[in-house]
Amino acid sequence: MKVAIIGTGRMGQGLLKTFYPSYRQNVWFTGRDVAHAQRVIEELGLPLKAVPQEEALQADVIIPTLWFRDLLPWAQEHRETLKGKIVIDITNPFNENFDDFTTAYDTSAAEELQKVIPDSQVVTAFKNTYWVVFDTPILQGLKSDVYVASNSDQARGNVMQLLKPLPFRVLDAGLLKNSRTIERMTLLSSELARKAGSHPRIAFNLWGLEHEGLPREKQDKTVALKPVS
Ligand SMILES: NC(=O)c1ccc[n+]([C@@H]2O[C@H](COP(=O)([O-])OP(=O)(O)OC[C@H]3O[C@@H](n4cnc5c(N)ncnc54)[C@H](OP(=O)(O)O)[C@@H]3O)[C@@H](O)[C@H]2O)c1
Repeated sequence: MKVAIIGTGRMGQGLLKTFYPSYRQNVWFTGRDVAHAQRVIEELGLPLKAVPQEEALQADVIIPTLWFRDLLPWAQEHRETLKGKIVIDITNPFNENFDDFTTAYDTSAAEELQKVIPDSQVVTAFKNTYWVVFDTPILQGLKSDVYVASNSDQARGNVMQLLKPLPFRVLDAGLLKNSRTIERMTLLSSELARKAGSHPRIAFNLWGLEHEGLPREKQDKTVALKPVS
């Protein structure tokens, strides 16, 4: 399976660093300027060659790492080429102040994208993964969560399979409408992290589920409450 990462910014680079060890030459990297994409690859020290965007769009799975305001025009432009493909949507529709979203509560960036490309399978992933998290995806022995949502069971399953070798805990988050919550979780985590002084080193790890990153005995350890004397 070929994966194309479109856009050379922070998320594009983070995803490239994360996918490369497992997928090597099956990862294609590009941006609006191929020469710039090549320089980015070289700065990251990876033995890859940047490909022109038209070529990258031939991949089976496409990950546009654009801002939401640029995503829909981009999708509209490439609508024909994207037909039948899986498009992983990572966007959070932040406003200019990064303190709210531009989308209404009854929709999400992922659903708006799906409307523009109805013949592609849009799959939500990495919405809550801040770019610095790609550098330390396992913190205190725990993998952070990637919630995967799509209206296509097959596409969701394929993406979960694709992400399996990566150092994240990948969870089936159901239908695309759950992106409304998943996206707004990023907004909440941003505020929580700013208050705690750890922004942007923040990610979700839902308590109560199995942790692959921890040995079993630590997963099950319970803390005995001291009897009140
Ligand atoms: N930053 C985070 O921690 C984080 C976490 C989760 C999700 N996200 C989401 O990921 C997306 C990217 O965030 P980022 O932090 O990586 O932003 P960024 O560093 O600004 O990168 C955005 C990239 O989009 C491409 N781009 C910009 N304008 C474009 C246009 N008009 N048409 C096509 N491509 C264009 C550019 O790549 P080229 O110049 O190479 O074309 C640019 O490097 C956003 O939607 C954000 O909500 C971000």
